[in-house]
Amino acid sequence: MVSDDPSYIPQLYGRRQSKPLKPRQARLMESLLPRISVPDPDKGPIDLKALFPGKEEVELEVGFGGGEHLAAQALARPQAGFIGAEPFVNGVGKLLVHIDADGLDNVRVHFGDARPLMEALPEASLSSIYALFPDPWPKARHFKRRIVSPWFFAEAARLVRPGGRLRVASDVDDYVRWTLMHAQDAPAFLWTAERAADWKTRPADWPETRYERKAVAAGRRPAYLEFRRIEGI
Ligand SMILES: C[S@@+](CC[C@H](N)C(=O)[O-])C[C@H]1O[C@@H](n2cnc3c(N)ncnc32)[C@H](O)[C@@H]1O
Repeated sequence: MVSDDPSYIPQLYGRRQSKPLKPRQARLMESLLPRISVPDPDKGPIDLKALFPGKEEVELEVGFGGGEHLAAQALARPQAGFIGAEPFVNGVGKLLVHIDADGLDNVRVHFGDARPLMEALPEASLSSIYALFPDPWPKARHFKRRIVSPWFFAEAARLVRPGGRLRVASDVDDYVRWTLMHAQDAPAFLWTAERAADWKTRPADWPETRYERKAVAAGRRPAYLEFRRIEGI
């Protein structure tokens, strides 16, 4: 199932692996990942009730990197189910170590591009989507590779239930402007910030990511954007 939207670029960019996996990560890729993988989205719609029996709500993180945010959210809220999508094998290996170490039973993993996964999820099935520090693709000729796009906002509007939220963080000013520009064209989402502190300060229920820690250490100031899915659109 592939979108007809011209802003959807099905090709996957970026690295899939940097260095060899550590022995524990490699073991968990063999033993744990097959047990907690989301069904292949190419095979049809995904049944979230079957994936998370008894869970009150389901959230999705797109590009979880090392999985710190996803694992911390899953640990804090055992009553919710969490799906993480990440095509970078070293990131998946790190998340699996968190899941194993913390004994998390509410996380499912899509090892690959988040976009076909999103298209296979049912309408209004998620309470939150997170896209934290997406690859910035700073050159104009690469803007079409940015995950935040008209396609992304349209899919997020289809997936997030009314009252739910979309969170996007970035330490790149141009990406922040880009996200807000696309959000303006997405009437289903309302930017919740009322004052500068609302987007300049990371909320208490928003765990820090590895990429963010490095960005802050390098002197960059991230923006934390939260959009509310409004009803009736
Ligand atoms: C700059 S890193 C940030 C990682 C993490 N969110 C953090 O804040 O530490 C961007 C991540 O997005 C992932 N990514 C890129 N394209 C993606 C896609 N189409 N679907 C899912 N993840 C993707 C990359 O592999 C990378 O791990």
